[in-house]
Amino acid sequence: MKLGFIADLHLDINEKRRRTDILEVLLEQTKEQKLDALCIGGDVSNDYRRTLAAVEQIEHERNIPCYFVAGNHDLWNIQHPNKNTWEIYNELKRHPRNLANGSQDLGNNWTLLGDIGWYDFSFGSKSKYTFAEFNQMKMKGSTWQDKEYTDWAVNSLEVHELFMKKFKEQLREHRHEKVIFCSHVVSHEKFTVPTPHRIWDYFNAYLGSKDYEQLIKSEKVQYALCGHVHFRKTVHSSETEFICSSLGYANQWRTPSTKDEVQHALTVLHLE
Ligand SMILES: [Fe+2]
Repeated sequence: MKLGFIADLHLDINEKRRRTDILEVLLEQTKEQKLDALCIGGDVSNDYRRTLAAVEQIEHERNIPCYFVAGNHDLWNIQHPNKNTWEIYNELKRHPRNLANGSQDLGNNWTLLGDIGWYDFSFGSKSKYTFAEFNQMKMKGSTWQDKEYTDWAVNSLEVHELFMKKFKEQLREHRHEKVIFCSHVVSHEKFTVPTPHRIWDYFNAYLGSKDYEQLIKSEKVQYALCGHVHFRKTVHSSETEFICSSLGYANQWRTPSTKDEVQHALTVLHLE
């Protein structure tokens, strides 16, 4: 079975910047690559309704399952100022392919599981900044936008702990299967921005957590998929292949071709 993985489509932002239909190109690629299923690692758009519509369109037009996890952008409340983050999270969770609902059996002992995950500041430079400073989400005139557009009602560490507890239980339960773990946030330190860096010494704090890498390795996960940071990179570590496969913003692309970028960002796993 061929499973495709891509994250950070940012359909709304990219359409404005590039006037191109990313979804159309992705649909063509799923066909060309003869994918049996697709997994999207979050940040489809800044509006959960748009995100759900995109998932529906892929499933409808290609007739394949389109699994996904939420990204922080999908949870933003710009279009829904009266909703808190849990309400938006639950709106997305109503879709049966959202991995927040539980693991998915892909056949041949392969299991796909995960959720957005969150950040606990452990990737930030602790020698330069204190917990209180990271908790501010503001530095040198820049604000990490989750501060403005998300409200979990508890602090970031507690959100992270919640997802960690869930991941621990799920991975333990599926220990004897071949597991593909998908988070939106970064699950390996090598996917953070190299430091020392003028601003990323600080902003790496919001990319993910060191806890995920440890857990994934200890549970001998086969593939750990993520997005969030707009890099495309693979890291082999212990028995796990960590894959960060973001399409990212069009102004960050290396080529002017949407097709080339989607093709490059789309990872295809051959599961046997
Ligand atoms: Fe993100």
